Amino acid sequence: MKLPDGPKGPKLFLTLQGVLWPLEFLEDCARRYGDPFTSRFASFPPFVVFSNPQAIQEIFTADPKLFDSGRSNTVFRPSLGDNSLILLDGDRHARQRRLLTPPFHGDRMRAYGQLICDAAEKVISDYSIGETVVARTAMQEISLRVILRAVFGLDEGPRLEQLRQLLSALLEGFNSPLKSLIVFVPALQQDLGAWSPWGQFLRRRQKIDQLIYAEIEQRRAEPDAAREDILSLMMAARDEAGQPMTDVELRDELMTLLIAGHETTASSLSWALYWVHAMPEVHDRLLQELETVGPEADPSAIARLPYLNAVCQETLRLYPVVLFTFLRIAKAPVKIMGHEFEPGTYLSPCIYLTHHRPDLYPEPNQFRPERFLERQFSPYEYLPFGGGNRRCIGMAFAQYEMKLVLATLLSRWQFSLVDHRPVRPLRRGATFTPQGGIPLVLQSDRPLNSLTVV
Ligand code: HEM
Repeated sequence: MKLPDGPKGPKLFLTLQGVLWPLEFLEDCARRYGDPFTSRFASFPPFVVFSNPQAIQEIFTADPKLFDSGRSNTVFRPSLGDNSLILLDGDRHARQRRLLTPPFHGDRMRAYGQLICDAAEKVISDYSIGETVVARTAMQEISLRVILRAVFGLDEGPRLEQLRQLLSALLEGFNSPLKSLIVFVPALQQDLGAWSPWGQFLRRRQKIDQLIYAEIEQRRAEPDAAREDILSLMMAARDEAGQPMTDVELRDELMTLLIAGHETTASSLSWALYWVHAMPEVHDRLLQELETVGPEADPSAIARLPYLNAVCQETLRLYPVVLFTFLRIAKAPVKIMGHEFEPGTYLSPCIYLTHHRPDLYPEPNQFRPERFLERQFSPYEYLPFGGGNRRCIGMAFAQYEMKLVLATLLSRWQFSLVDHRPVRPLRRGATFTPQGGIPLVLQSDRPLNSLTVV
């Protein structure tokens, strides 16, 4: 069966375009070939890109047995390992999801409210008035503190501190489009010594693994039934045969939560801080709303504020931190919006292009939170966290964290942008982050008149 039309030319050239200038590449493909189109990259099967909500609905609501995703997520294997939820398919995937989803929802999630506010407060308090805070760096520190505590529990200490530094260093290794090429081109993954990019990655990963295995060993030696953190939960879990997770499985799942659970949130928060400070009317309206919750405000009340919610939604719409959901690989013949696809075809819902459809989002390049107050979007029109059986397990947690961090920062301090020029997204491994990291000057403490986050 013939795949829909798409860009032609040497695959290496198309790969470079897709990795180095992905937004321009996608916009150009959508303009030339419409929806869907087929993309062809080096060392990867062709994949069919969709941005029509009806197609996305058909993919997300299909029987989960119809598609695999994990086996196409090989770019994550070097960091996360073979047993990561992200690389699993079928029953093993469904079982691990059932285990890992509840801690990031409902009351379990809300129990982290105070911790999130405290982490935001702690990180910004370390800066002096007049100092420049690079939003990306500060937000990464906040979100890494939060996810480490959620995963490992309340124990502060040298091991967590070392893990925090090593994880940040590991991810800094992919902090530019050129450095990101190594993630996508396996031929570049060569250990040429401690100073080579891949050699450095491998050595950092080894140190992280040692710390994680030491933590697991200590927990086994000193079991504590009262612990409620996610590692304890994973160590207590048994499969149908009554078997616990192996140490390697535990390690891979911990790395997945630690990495997936903070990079994305940190970049989204940096974008939110950019928009709020680039647009005084957004800033003022948000502050007015925050003041309405008054001295009794608790994290749940903050999380329900409609304009704060709209600001976070619009942030995730305009520049989503991942441009695509995971690929869906058809395991049987499948028909999407009348197009027939053979087993083995790679289908790719495109978050970025869907979020930029002018029929859904007029003036799609404008930051306009009001659109989320004026109408409700379906999960196939608005999909920053993907959907179906692969939908992000951290969706509720990430939004909760974004709202509480923004509320804490804006109600405690005043910031101003160092540079008012427009900012573009920059590739950072598989995710996108604001170019330059959004430097902000910390201007003053805001008197905590009516608003305290308790
Ligand atoms: C703003 C923050 C975040 C964004 C934009 C985001 C986005 C996504 C997207 C688009 C997917 C793929 C979904 C699909 O293919 O349908 C995903 C999967 C995933 N996310 Fe997130 N994520 C965020 C935060 C988090 C957090 C906080 C965690 C950890 C608690 C997390 C853990 C995961 C995991 C484990 C998966 C794989 C799910 C599976 O394969 O079944 N993410 N995320």
